[in-house]
Amino acid sequence: MFDIVIKGGSMYTPGGVIVGDIGVIDGIIADVQEGGGLDGDKVIDAVGKCVFPGFIDPHVHIHLPFMGTNAIDDHESASKAALVGGTTTIIEMICPGPEDEPANSFAEWKGLAEEGCCCDFSFHLAVVRFDDLAKEQLRDLVANEGVQSFKIFLAYKGALDMNDENLFKLMQLCNELGVTLTAHCENAEAVDSMQKKLLAEGKTGPEWHEPSRPRSVEADGVNHLCSFAELTGATIYIVHTSCGMAVDRAIEARGRGVDVTVESVAPHLVLDKTYAQRPGFEGAKFVMSPPLRDKVEHDALWRGLASGAVTTIGTDHAPFNFNGQKDMGTDAFTLIPNGIPSIQERVDLIHTHGVCTRKIEMQTMVDVCSTNVAKQFNMYPQKGAIAVGSDADIVVYDSNFVGTFKHEDGLSKIDYSGFEGMERKGRSDVVLLRGKVVAEQGEFVGEAGAGLYISR
Ligand code: URP
Ligand code: ZN
Ligand code: ZN
Repeated sequence: MFDIVIKGGSMYTPGGVIVGDIGVIDGIIADVQEGGGLDGDKVIDAVGKCVFPGFIDPHVHIHLPFMGTNAIDDHESASKAALVGGTTTIIEMICPGPEDEPANSFAEWKGLAEEGCCCDFSFHLAVVRFDDLAKEQLRDLVANEGVQSFKIFLAYKGALDMNDENLFKLMQLCNELGVTLTAHCENAEAVDSMQKKLLAEGKTGPEWHEPSRPRSVEADGVNHLCSFAELTGATIYIVHTSCGMAVDRAIEARGRGVDVTVESVAPHLVLDKTYAQRPGFEGAKFVMSPPLRDKVEHDALWRGLASGAVTTIGTDHAPFNFNGQKDMGTDAFTLIPNGIPSIQERVDLIHTHGVCTRKIEMQTMVDVCSTNVAKQFNMYPQKGAIAVGSDADIVVYDSNFVGTFKHEDGLSKIDYSGFEGMERKGRSDVVLLRGKVVAEQGEFVGEAGAGLYISR
């Protein structure tokens, strides 16, 4: 007898899609039976539904002091939003300032997540300070705290960016420690020059954000990072890739033997730069970096996902209110806090715009939003699989659900939705985290602060 049985769904297992039952004991998947026949104290009917491994978001910001303000979510609100959207594990970016010690920052972020996070969580640790003390602490965090990935910003000149001397040395340290280097790739100097030029010409509105950091700026950043990885042998992961030109630079480097993985994020697959051109400063809601591009880039990214050039989809959830935060940039687009949140909407956006339009297969959605992330970041098969022995993080998904994305349905604290009024196909009907039902049909029914740190 199992604690819970999930009955009769189409289960996406590592061996393929099979119809049958999952038995859960003590939060772990104890049996996966094709054809069914399992009994449990509690039975969840999944007939006619898809049954997926819990989705994993490889790129979120929750505690984020950035551009003179703080992102508006806390761990409780962001993780509730994640769970109702089918995401059971998040990897948050720890983003310290240039003076902060990595050990203190890790403790600060972990403490906040342990207090409030309702889903499981892990971290990428941004390296901004890189002196001897920082290096020593980075070594210690990898050895003793299960940190397995660092993050750098080739962007945000004067705030978070890193010079080439330190980039080279950091990559050598990554090799020594067996750590993946995740990176925001743009040419920070070029962005700075373009911003100054546009502002001097009186081009101050949100619609000028994209022209200040065009595709070539991003492709140059990717190329730069890949060149350094080629020289050092570092393993790199490029976050929020927004356009075909940037993907191409990474794939060329892969052809030269560089160990490079490419991530895209939901806003770049669904929204285009015309959103940032909306009148009356409305466009500020759609300012993120790299920026939203021409619609044609969506196809380049979907093709990349279908071919395996792009292997993960995150959100880059970075919520800043329209009123009181985005409007810090009414006089200059350079002062608009960057970010378009989608931690709740990600899976349904990918289902609606990728699977339902036949740009990618359902299996690809599962891979890029769950399994590949777990494999890439050392969480597999604890996470990312419907398999005996894996955590019972399970999503019963209604792929026939039809609705509309609405801000009023969101559990994030953000005061707008970037997807307001857009058609929505699909919904996570029942979400289990380690064998406990935590979300049902868009409502959070779990326990606040029940998320666990995933040491990698
Ligand atoms: O616009 C973005 N992406 N905001 C969050 C910070 C970052 O660059 O990831
Ligand atoms: Zn970034
Ligand atoms: Zn980010």
